[in-house]
Amino acid sequence: MLSNLQPQAPDKILMLIEEFKADTRQGKIDLGVGVYKDPEGVTPVMRAVKAAEQRIWETQTTKAYTGLAGEPEYRSAMAKMVLAEVPADRLASVATVGGTGAIRQALELARMAHPGLTVHVSDPTWPNHLSIMKFMGLPYVEYRYFDVATRGVDFEAMKQDIARAKKGDIVLLHGCCHNPTGANLTLDQWREVIDILQTTGAVPLIDLAYQGFGDGLDADAEATRLVAQSLPEVLIAASCSKNFGIYRERTGILIALAETTQARDLAQGAMAYLNRQNYSFPPDHGARIVQTILTDDALRADWAAELEEVRNTMLGLRDQLAAELRQLSGSDRFDFIAHHRGMFSRLGATPEQVQQLKSEAAIYMVGDSRLNIAGLNQHTVPVLARAIIDAGI
Ligand code: LMR
Repeated sequence: MLSNLQPQAPDKILMLIEEFKADTRQGKIDLGVGVYKDPEGVTPVMRAVKAAEQRIWETQTTKAYTGLAGEPEYRSAMAKMVLAEVPADRLASVATVGGTGAIRQALELARMAHPGLTVHVSDPTWPNHLSIMKFMGLPYVEYRYFDVATRGVDFEAMKQDIARAKKGDIVLLHGCCHNPTGANLTLDQWREVIDILQTTGAVPLIDLAYQGFGDGLDADAEATRLVAQSLPEVLIAASCSKNFGIYRERTGILIALAETTQARDLAQGAMAYLNRQNYSFPPDHGARIVQTILTDDALRADWAAELEEVRNTMLGLRDQLAAELRQLSGSDRFDFIAHHRGMFSRLGATPEQVQQLKSEAAIYMVGDSRLNIAGLNQHTVPVLARAIIDAGI
């Protein structure tokens, strides 16, 4: 039986981790997978996470099962962090296995509710969005998003394309810090997107994996909050991997906002059912860390302060890289790097140029020229800038 299996193409992002490890060159630079690294190249455990773990270790009296939907305290703390004002009569939620689990459950939920749906995704989007949909056999179409000339958003094209969505279709949007481009909508543009969704009756699925990495914890959730207040039905898949730095704990949440309390109850039941079918109970340790931090004033303040340090470090690196490239290229054509937000920027280089950076300068980025800003430090920024110019980008 097992010999009938077809070989699977490796995930392009995760493959880079192995390639980078195997490279023996001194001074190699990893700008691949979306993991934060401090200037020493370490992905630290945040202070508040350590403190919360200690508290959990000291006080936890059982490891018996949690609920199928996860702990209510975790879900309500997360709903508050994402939405600020929580519309309790409309809100259903389940803890999930990371942000990826939330995306997967959201797509399953949408298909259960509306089997004929098409998903509309930005071109480009996080490659695993496409991979999951292909695996599920879920039809999807891409809407134009990234403007290669400006490295910003081609908003007119995006509007035209999402206006083709039908009632009950899903439009997958990145709540902030677009992955892989780093190019984001303004709030006014979000308002226009909301109008289109209102007219078409399509349902937004917001992927919120980087809250706190762009313009701040509240600023990064502003668009999601606006959508939640404006539309009758909204799905939100949020991840705690990056903003709490608990990647391997697999901590996420799926939030569904329904039009009526009755529909909310149906969604809550369907989401718990989906957890049961896929893995029974969601993992608890990461969720408990998050809940402990978000419900304790001192821990929360310390976590928010450390997250701000992370965010500001990335902004500083963006500014430094844009300035280096301005000087080396004698032009402002790389200024988009300073304007982008989040962990990533898409450089707009060809696959050959990306390959050249790898083979000649030992600089690793995803083949579409997405670079992880957090993989840099003050000393490697000039090295990257030089290599970009040398590769003729
Ligand atoms: C990324 O885009 O690099 C991260 O979200 C990690 C992943 O799972 O792909």
